[in-house]
Amino acid sequence: MKLVVKTICCIGAGYVGGPTMAVIADNCPDIQVHVVDINEKRIKDWNDSNLSNLPIYEPGLENIIERCRGENLHFSTDVERAISDADMIFLSVNTPTKTKGIGAGQASDLKWIEKSARQVAKYARGNSIVVEKSTLPVKTAETIQKILNTENDKKDNQQSNFYVLSNPEFLAEGSAINDLIYPDRVLIGGDNDDAISALESIYLNWVAKEKIIKTNLWSSELSKLAANAFLAQRISSINSISALCEATGADIGEVSKAIGMDNRIGSKFLKPGPGFGGSCFKKDILNLVYIANYYGLNELAKYWQQVLDLNKWQNRRISKIIIKNLFGTLYEKKIAILGFAFKAETNDTRESPAINICKDLLEEGAHLSIYDPKVSSFQISTDLGCSHNYKSKEGSWISCDSIEDAAYNSDAIIIITEWEEFRTLDWEKLSQVMRFPAWLFDLRRITNVEKAREFGINVWNLGATG
Ligand code: NAD
Ligand code: UGA
Repeated sequence: MKLVVKTICCIGAGYVGGPTMAVIADNCPDIQVHVVDINEKRIKDWNDSNLSNLPIYEPGLENIIERCRGENLHFSTDVERAISDADMIFLSVNTPTKTKGIGAGQASDLKWIEKSARQVAKYARGNSIVVEKSTLPVKTAETIQKILNTENDKKDNQQSNFYVLSNPEFLAEGSAINDLIYPDRVLIGGDNDDAISALESIYLNWVAKEKIIKTNLWSSELSKLAANAFLAQRISSINSISALCEATGADIGEVSKAIGMDNRIGSKFLKPGPGFGGSCFKKDILNLVYIANYYGLNELAKYWQQVLDLNKWQNRRISKIIIKNLFGTLYEKKIAILGFAFKAETNDTRESPAINICKDLLEEGAHLSIYDPKVSSFQISTDLGCSHNYKSKEGSWISCDSIEDAAYNSDAIIIITEWEEFRTLDWEKLSQVMRFPAWLFDLRRITNVEKAREFGINVWNLGATG
């Protein structure tokens, strides 16, 4: 039986739901796409006529929203109605690490997935295709199917058929729109050919058929966790070598290039840094570790746990290096923090390496002046757990509107996020407003450190000596 999709509902208007549905709407003018969320403020922001107030920042997103919103792309809090109108329902809700109960600190918290599955079961009409877009532990599709069937059994008259598919999302923040328009692959896991064809036909509007991979449900769910684990593993690997470079006189830029030119290794994801951040790598590896232990594969669990341990170590060792170089005390020192987002081109700060580094420096009594082109002062205050006028012997912080403001009178500049504008810092100007002896700590290796040295600034460049 051919399943035709005319109306889509996406539960969850976050970093995945918003951009993914925008790209679907843009490429499928005949499909009405409704993105719903329980967070009223988020929906209000998605509907804001001023596009710079959209709840998330992604290059290219504003243009699509401008084209499609109100045409075939709609944002609302009316979850019930959107589900009942839909032929296909994407579950794109958050799946963070559990903070309490069994598996706390490792397993994914599936309460939002379960709640949305129950809503789907209650309000959906017949022949609905339910698509897992969230990243989920292997076998979650089974749980979702059970919830859908159970609720179905309670309905006296009208029965719905549910087809559960796994369609994990591989977009990276900051390049989400590009990743969605030109995906390396689209993965569809499922056991119902009609449902799989219906989802495939949506992607075929802009993705080549050879890029669409069809697998069983469990391979699809596991591939997503494994892909993130492999990517994170590369970052921990290069970061581990960065420390060895500092100890030996090798240069991580040169080593990274030499390794990456081997076709079998490849050059991507070999940039050293202050440790990976973002909402997913850590939680997905923790989940992998939890699943491995659950199946009694303890060696495997230990292996992947080490990727996380190394990441934490890299983050913490950098704080220590900064403090040590600034004569072991940050008392009455002003430090400019350039970048607070977990990576460039996003306003997302979840698990940003900047958070721990700033907290460590604050604890040493530093006064931080933080500049990030997209992260709000409110967000920084939420992440640091103290408001900006907080003053005590533990230090204080302010949010600045420009690089120059942040650098004014500072003893050190720390580049934490690789924003484009930090690549071309004017070291002559900055050296004139800093307090000497002045320091630069480039945790992304993006600025011209030779120029900084020329103007008398001491430099610590990640993964290099001197
Ligand atoms: P997010 O927190 O930005 O968005 C999730 C949204 O779901 C929130 O706005 C929340 O209010 C909403 N929500 C939760 N329960 C709901 C319910 N019952 N009804 C309606 N709305 C509900 O999360 P995200 O970053 O978009 O991630 C979503 C999923 O996608 C996660 O599983 C994540 O692992 C995965 N993922 C994320 C990325 C990324 O780059 N952020 C990339 C690939 C996959
Ligand atoms: C990552 C994956 O790249 C996506 O494929 C996946 O869909 C997504 O997680 C997810 O499941 O959430 P994202 O976290 O948005 O995407 O961004 P990345 O580009 O992967 O960067 C993650 C972190 O690693 C950032 O802190 C970044 O600065 C760091 N990184 C990345 C490095 O330190 N070095 C590198 O070479 C690459």
